[in-house]
Amino acid sequence: MALNGKIAVVTGAAMGIGAAMTEILLHNSAKVILLDVNDSAGKTLKEALDKKHGAETTLFINCDVTSEEQTQAALQKTVETFGGIDILCNNAGILDESQWEKTISVNLMGIVRVTYLALKYMSKLTGGRGGVIVNTASLAGLFPLMSCPVYTATKFGVVGFTRAMAVRTVFLDAYSLTFGRRKVYSTFEIIGVSQNVRDVNVSDGLPRGR
Ligand SMILES: NC(=O)c1ccc[n+]([C@@H]2O[C@H](COP(=O)([O-])OP(=O)(O)OC[C@H]3O[C@@H](n4cnc5c(N)ncnc54)[C@H](O)[C@@H]3O)[C@@H](O)[C@H]2O)c1
Repeated sequence: MALNGKIAVVTGAAMGIGAAMTEILLHNSAKVILLDVNDSAGKTLKEALDKKHGAETTLFINCDVTSEEQTQAALQKTVETFGGIDILCNNAGILDESQWEKTISVNLMGIVRVTYLALKYMSKLTGGRGGVIVNTASLAGLFPLMSCPVYTATKFGVVGFTRAMAVRTVFLDAYSLTFGRRKVYSTFEIIGVSQNVRDVNVSDGLPRGR
């Protein structure tokens, strides 16, 4: 997908991998909506990005992905400001075995929540223009990390959710009704990524090398 002019939402964008994704998207001329619970880090990053890329290229919204209300409001604001969503990077995640319920809520339920809410705006079935969803998993989503069973469970969940959504997308596309060459059901490309590893092949929706 060419990134030029695309509208991307990145969760957990204030620092780490999310901030790096944001930089790459901006470098390729996309506009980025940064969602994060860390207000000060988000605002500081936004100021730095304004100087580099121009204030109109980004929007920071304080948003907790465990909150349906905040996520819905953030996506609504995104669409009102930029006219749609083309890319969703579900990146927010924590590793805290002592808070296992919160870890599941952020890492797994957060990804499902943001995906389903964003699909309302992105899917061609509901008036969107289609797009790409990138879910950040981990090697802990492919192999058990014995010191972090809850984190492992959430990341296995992310990989499973991503694969199921990708296969569903391919299925809908393959079996959709067609009028001439135009498909009624549009595809949704869903890519699963762990750090440095692209786990699901966009073109066939199946894990690479499996
Ligand atoms: N760093 C690694 O080595 C590594 C390896 C594999 C996978 N990952 C995954 O990559 C993703 C990013 O990790 P990172 O290392 O950049 O972490 P990080 O802690 O540097 O950044 C995570 C960001 O997510 C935000 N965040 C946390 N909870 C949130 C919530 N409820 N709502 C919105 N934002 C929230 C934090 O404020 C922070 O800005 C995570 O999903 C993590 O599990 C990281």
